[in-house]
Amino acid sequence: MSAPSFPSSRLRRTRISAWSRALVAETNLAPTDLIWPIFVTSGKDVEEPIASLPGVSRWSVDRLAAKAREARDLGIPCIALFPNTPSDLRSADGREALNPDNLICRAIRTLKDAVPEVGILTDVALDPYTADGHDGITDADGYVLNDETSSILVEQALVQAGAGADIVAPSDMMDGRVGAIRRALETGGHVNVQIMAYAAKYASAFYGPFRDAVGSRGLLKGDKKSYQMDPANSVEALREVALDIAEGADHVMVKPGLPYLDIIRRVKERFDIPVFAYQVSGEYAMIEAAAAIGAGERDPLILETLMALKRAGCAGILTYHAPVAARLLTR
Ligand code: PBG
Repeated sequence: MSAPSFPSSRLRRTRISAWSRALVAETNLAPTDLIWPIFVTSGKDVEEPIASLPGVSRWSVDRLAAKAREARDLGIPCIALFPNTPSDLRSADGREALNPDNLICRAIRTLKDAVPEVGILTDVALDPYTADGHDGITDADGYVLNDETSSILVEQALVQAGAGADIVAPSDMMDGRVGAIRRALETGGHVNVQIMAYAAKYASAFYGPFRDAVGSRGLLKGDKKSYQMDPANSVEALREVALDIAEGADHVMVKPGLPYLDIIRRVKERFDIPVFAYQVSGEYAMIEAAAAIGAGERDPLILETLMALKRAGCAGILTYHAPVAARLLTR
C-alpha cells in the first residue's frame, strides 16, 4: 500500500477568497500611510499642469485650502509643499528662501488657518530659490559649500517653522544640518516642530519631473553627485541615517522609493525610528507612462508599488498618487 500522495501544506488554501486573503495579510496599506506632495505657484486662481507629471498641477495659494480639505476628507494626514519660485526671485544665494512672506510661508499660513488638522511638511533646501538650481550656495568652481549652506538652511527652517510648518524636512544632504536645525528649533521656540531627515537621498535620475515642477531643471548646472548619495552604496546609507538620528531627526527618509527597497529594509531593521520613503516624480511618471501605453493597469500598479514600500518597512510614503491611492483604498 502506498501512502496517499498530497502536499503536506497547501498555501493556496488561504488565497482562495478575498475574506481569507484579508485575514492573513501581513501588510496593511491605508490612507493614513500617505503624505501628499503639492506644488505651489504664484498668482491668483491658477492651476498649471506639469507636462512630465500627467495629472499633477501647481496651484496658487488661494487654491490650496481645497486641496487640504480633500486630504482631510480622504484621511491623508499630511501635505508636503514645494514652491515654484518666480525666476526674478532666484539668486546665487537663494535669499528668497528666508523671506517670511515667500510663496511657501504664505502657503503654510493659509493651510494652517483653513485646515489646521492636516500636517504640513516643508522642504529645507535652496534649489527652488537658487539661480543655478543647486540645493546650496556654490563657490567659484561650482562646489556646493557645506557649512555656509547649512547656516542658511537653519534660517530657512526657522522661517518655515515660524510660519507654522509642523515638520521640516531637510532634503539638501549637507553634513551636520540636522543637528544645526534641531538646536535652532529648540532655542528658537519651536521645540515641537518635527524633523524628517532626507537621510539616504540618492543622486537619482528619477527627479526630472520634480525639477520641471519647481522650475529648476533648465537652470541646474552640472549634477548633485557631490552631495547626494551614489546609488552604488548602502552601508553609507546606514551611516547617514545613524548621524541624522544622533543629530535629532524624528523620522528618516529613503529616496527614491521602489529602486531602493533594500535600503528601506536595512534601515528599518537597524534603527528604531519611523522610516519614510519618497516615491519620487520619476516613479510616478513611469507608472503613468506604463498605464498610458497599456503596458499595465494604473490602479493596481499604484497600489502594488505602495504596498511594496510599506512591506519593505515604511511607516509612510510621500507619493503624488496620494489622493488617487486614498480613494482606491477607501472605496
Ligand atoms: C530638492 C528636492 C528634490 C526632490 C525633493 N526635494 C529634487 C532634487 O534633489 O533635485 C525630488 C522629488 C521628486 O523627484 O519627486 N532638494
